[in-house]
Amino acid sequence: MKDVIESLGPVCAVIGAQWGDEGKGKITDILAEHFDVIARACGGANAGHTIVVNGKKHVFHLLPAGCLHADKDIVLGSGMVIHLPTLLEEISRLEEEEIDVTDRLFLSPGAHIVLDIHKDIDRLLEEQRKKKIGKGIGTTGRGIGPTYMDKAMRTGMRLESLWESTTSIKKMLKDHGAILTKIFNIPFDLERELAAILKAKKKLEYCLIANITDTMSTYLIEGNSILIEGAQGALLDIDHGTYPYVTSSVTTAAGALQGLGMAPQVLTSCIGVAKAYCTRVGEGDFVTEAISKVADRLRKRGGEYGATTGRPRRCGWLHTPHLRYAAILNGFTHWNITKLDVLDEEKSIPIGVGIGKKEKVAYKKLPGWKKKTSGIRKFSDLPHNARNFVKFIEEETGVPVAFIGTGEGRADIIVNNIQQ
Ligand code: IMP
Repeated sequence: MKDVIESLGPVCAVIGAQWGDEGKGKITDILAEHFDVIARACGGANAGHTIVVNGKKHVFHLLPAGCLHADKDIVLGSGMVIHLPTLLEEISRLEEEEIDVTDRLFLSPGAHIVLDIHKDIDRLLEEQRKKKIGKGIGTTGRGIGPTYMDKAMRTGMRLESLWESTTSIKKMLKDHGAILTKIFNIPFDLERELAAILKAKKKLEYCLIANITDTMSTYLIEGNSILIEGAQGALLDIDHGTYPYVTSSVTTAAGALQGLGMAPQVLTSCIGVAKAYCTRVGEGDFVTEAISKVADRLRKRGGEYGATTGRPRRCGWLHTPHLRYAAILNGFTHWNITKLDVLDEEKSIPIGVGIGKKEKVAYKKLPGWKKKTSGIRKFSDLPHNARNFVKFIEEETGVPVAFIGTGEGRADIIVNNIQQ
C-alpha cells in the first residue's frame, strides 16, 4: 500500500470513468486515511456515494465519503450546487454517530444554493421533454440542472448569502423567486425556502471560508495533502459526455480543479474508477448494454440500484474505447477497477472493443474465472483469468490498475503495486 500511496503524491483526484456509480466513495474513504484534506468540487446531491464500514452502510450525497475519518478537513468547492436541508441532514446523521463535522467543514462562498423550486423546475422540464420528444433525460430530480441554469443566467444565490441578514436574505429570495416563477410559471414558497436557509445559516455560517483559492493554496503551502472526490463520471460531463444525456456540471479532473480554484499543474495523480462491467441510470446511449436476462443477473449480483433515487441501473459490459477516452480526457495515472467479484460466476466476459451502434460493436470475449474473488488481498492470489482480465484493461488503456475492489467493505480491496 505504501508504495502506491507514495505514487499518488500530494494532490490526487478520484474520477469516475463511466456514467457515475463506479464506486468512488469506497476508494476515497480508503485513501482518506493517507490525506489531510478531502474535497468535493462540483455537482450536488445527484451524486450518491455508498460505503460500508463494519457492515454498516453510509450514503453521502454532498459530503465526501472521506468525512468518516474524524481528523480530516472537508472542503466543498465553488463548482458545487448545495441543497442546504440535505447537507444539514447528512451532518446530523453523522452527529448521531458521534462524528462531528462542522468544526472541520469548509464551504466555498461561491457554491450555489439549490432551492426547492429548482427541484420543481427539474420535474417540470422532464415532463415537458417527455411530452415533446417522448422521453426525458432521466435526471435525479435533485434540481441540479435548474440550479446551474440559474448560475449561468447570473441570477443564482450562492452560499455567501448565509452571511447576510434575515431581511436581506428574504429580499434576495423574493427577487430570485419572482424571476423563476415568471420564466417557468411555477409557484414559489418564499416562507419555506427562507426557513431552510435561516436554519442552515445558524449551523453553517461559520463554515464559510473567505476564498476557496486561498484556502486550497494555503493547505498546499503548509504541506497538506489533498484528496479530491469527483462526482458522477466522465461520460456524464456537460462538455465531453453523451450530450444531452449528461449532468449539467463538469465531471472531469480539470473540472474538479476548476471547482476548487486550483491550478491544473498541482494535480499529482488521477485515479480513474471503473466497474469491472458497466452501468447507467437515466436515458442515453449505452452500446454495451446487456440483454435483459444478463442485465438482471448483473444488477442482482452488483446490487445495482441508484443510491440517490433507488432506480434500477441499466447493466452491461465494459467498453474499452470509453475507458481509453476517459483516461485521455482526465489524464488517469492509476485505475481502480471496482466490483470484480460481481463477475465471479460468469462463464465468459464480453468486453466491447469497437465503436459504432449497439448491434455493430465488436466484442472480445475473455474467459471467466468461476471462482470467488472476495476475500483475496493479493493480486497474485487472483485466479489466472481474473488477472488476465485486469491486464487486458491495462493493455487497452495504457494505465496501470492499482486498486481492485472485490466486495463491499473497506477491507475488500487488492492494492496492486504498480511498479511490478
Ligand atoms: P441530473 O444530474 O440529476 O441532472 O441528471 C442528469 C443525468 O445524469 C441522468 O441520467 C442521471 O441519472 C445522471 N446522474 C447524475 N448524477 C449521477 C450520479 O451520481 N450517478 C449516476 N448517474 C448520475
